[in-house]
Amino acid sequence: MIVLKTNEEIEILHENNLLVSKTLAEVGKLIKPGITTRELDQVAEEFILDHGAVPGFKGYHGYPNTLCTSVNDEVVHGIPSGYELQEGDIISVDCGVIKNGFYGDSAFTFAVGEISPGKKELLRVTRESLEKGVEQAVAGNRVGDIGYAVQTHAEEHGFSVVRELVGHGLGKNLHEAPEVPNFGRRGRGPKLKEGMVICIEPMINMGVKDVYQDRDGWTIHTADRKPSAHFEYAVAVRKNHAEVLTTYDYIEKVLNQ
Ligand code: MF3
Ligand code: CO
Repeated sequence: MIVLKTNEEIEILHENNLLVSKTLAEVGKLIKPGITTRELDQVAEEFILDHGAVPGFKGYHGYPNTLCTSVNDEVVHGIPSGYELQEGDIISVDCGVIKNGFYGDSAFTFAVGEISPGKKELLRVTRESLEKGVEQAVAGNRVGDIGYAVQTHAEEHGFSVVRELVGHGLGKNLHEAPEVPNFGRRGRGPKLKEGMVICIEPMINMGVKDVYQDRDGWTIHTADRKPSAHFEYAVAVRKNHAEVLTTYDYIEKVLNQ
């Protein structure tokens, strides 16, 4: 069942995703060689609690932390640890919050210092794929239109789309219907309706699309150990446009300093 949200509920989801956006920027300030992913997690948790919210992932199906920090060949669900970031790494930071009974959920992949041209292109194309998907999140379209747009853009650039993990509805639960795959066919899947709130979250690999789960029970790696990027927006479906509830503006400010 797909739960439609009222304007009041969408405003709460907007505030929550803005808090996630700000948290990601706080984390982004610290992303430099030498910092551990555990330190990033601690800063995020404190920032969220200071803003009257609760980390959305911690305790979710037993997940142990506030952030998912996925480095290089880690696709998503990387667990913060004592790993020290190194020049040339890319790190996907995924963050969730709960406040006023609703979730927020967004992600951004950061460069650590100077990265290779190939990784730069992967980040650019993954982000562009997200934007292409968002353009399709309009009432009357179908979920397959989003996946088709994401997949087409990623594959045009020689990258591959992870199949095992997908976007989702967002609301009082972190994962609601519908599933929002990053691949698909135009005109297929559930119809998008005004008031639906979905997370669009392309996970795009530089090499093969295949992934496997780490022995830690969480971390997803690429099968060929090549890098992967992940960007995630929460989006409200409207009649003639997609209303993005996440913003990367705070992150951009930090990165351009
Ligand atoms: N944004 C991720 C997702 O939508 C969050 C993972 S939550 C975790 O699946 F708690 F399971 F890590
Ligand atoms: Co998500």
